[in-house]
Amino acid sequence: MGPIGAGQGKRRPDKLDVQARVKYQRQQLVEHRNKQLAVNPDPVRKLSLSSSGDSGYNSPQTPSPNLSRFESVKALPSAVEYEYPAPPIDIESSSLDTEHPLYCTDSVELIPLLDANGQDTGLLLKTLPESLEAKGKEGKKAWALKSLENEAYAFKHIPSSEKLVQCFGMHTINERRGILLEKIQGSTLEDKFKELRVLHQEKVINSIQFRTATQRLLCQAAECMKVVHDAGFMHADFRPHNLMYDTQKKHLRLIDLGTTTHVGEKARPGHEWFVDPAAVSFKVNDRRRYMSTPPAGREELNKFSERELEELPRGAMTEPKVDIYGLGQMAYMQGLSDGEDPEIFTLGANISGIRANTELAIQRQFSSLPVRYQKFPVLPLHLDRKMFPKHELAKAVRQTDTAKKIGRDYIQFVNATLAPLRDNRSTIDEVLALPYMQMSLFQSNLADQVLNTSTDKYRTIEQERIRKETLKWNSPRT
Ligand SMILES: Nc1ncnc2c1ncn2[C@@H]1O[C@H](COP(=O)(O)OP(=O)(O)O)[C@@H](O)[C@H]1O
Ligand SMILES: [Mg+2]
Repeated sequence: MGPIGAGQGKRRPDKLDVQARVKYQRQQLVEHRNKQLAVNPDPVRKLSLSSSGDSGYNSPQTPSPNLSRFESVKALPSAVEYEYPAPPIDIESSSLDTEHPLYCTDSVELIPLLDANGQDTGLLLKTLPESLEAKGKEGKKAWALKSLENEAYAFKHIPSSEKLVQCFGMHTINERRGILLEKIQGSTLEDKFKELRVLHQEKVINSIQFRTATQRLLCQAAECMKVVHDAGFMHADFRPHNLMYDTQKKHLRLIDLGTTTHVGEKARPGHEWFVDPAAVSFKVNDRRRYMSTPPAGREELNKFSERELEELPRGAMTEPKVDIYGLGQMAYMQGLSDGEDPEIFTLGANISGIRANTELAIQRQFSSLPVRYQKFPVLPLHLDRKMFPKHELAKAVRQTDTAKKIGRDYIQFVNATLAPLRDNRSTIDEVLALPYMQMSLFQSNLADQVLNTSTDKYRTIEQERIRKETLKWNSPRT
């Protein structure tokens, strides 16, 4: 197999040449560092900058002609480090409620913590499931642990915020090591979106209520994203499963920093529906996934070698714009899906139906990106029928009509966030300045009212559905 990104014949539309990439990367780092210092000139906690500060690389205004590619990478500034807050309970006397895990997969388990009296503490331990202790699972266990350590690192380098789940660091409880997290009361954005779609479909809420509530959630999701981007990180798995609607604080909170990387580090793209196509393309070829065990250090795993810097596609880079695509995807699916199940859009195609090899399908489509997706917006206000092949036209017309009903601000938002090419996509600050992100007090109140009552209304509908189903099955057949 040739080097990653090579051998495709055609040049990737989203690929920068080496010099441009290094320049871009350096520019991003300078921007983030300046932003961080402006927001927090004297971080309360340790500032783990090298003593030379920014001098390791030059500002984009004064590029040094002698600066080699490799030097710029070695001189990457590390992220600002914060202390974890002390856990609000005595860890020594607490125990894990292993009988009632909140969530369990083959690589992670979330277990509630009980105090000395067996009472719920409102905390969770995100740890490895016991199934990973089995023989032959050593490699998988090492990877799962790496992901937890990566998450702990990200939490340590992003300042605490109401928009992010609170993390209390790595702890060992009942001999199980994991990340101690606050337990958020509420449901995921995935569930919240579904509730709203069903309530709208059943005409329990009207279109204005549905759209305003959706808009409010998207505004809050963008605000959550800003916290991560301002610290110089990208989340890399920014999707509705990883945002929770906190019913006590009455707003969204971001969770799951398992894939989060700092600018300058190699990306670890999350779910292919929500990371951008360039990141998916990298994910398909990412050689790390073929390693049976990860390298010991986090740095080793995420840094670029000199060769990789030249060969890897732009999708390998940590660029916060990857998350912006996820936000656009959320806006698109929630705005334009007809029924209970959302439609997922990638490069003009509805990919929700593809069950296997989705990543590969996206990569193929991206490497031969049709001109209409390079040159035209995702939701063109004025549809040129010649732009679309026959089989896509009817759908495109329908989508455009629906989008127009939602409004021009929405169309502008989708076009700014869901652009397949990174250069055409907005940054978080640009996104937050868009008209769609500006809601009046009246709109916000209306949205909050819908969001605070939607779960109960949805439950009533579900119960009614179950009652009808039961009646149907129990009624004597004629
Ligand atoms: N702090 C939390 N409070 C409440 N529920 C949580 C919390 N963290 C995660 N969850 C729930 O557990 C699920 C999986 O957690 P997550 O951290 O996303 O793990 P994974 O890395 O496997 O995706 C989430 O989708 C959410 O439903
Ligand atoms: Mg998750």
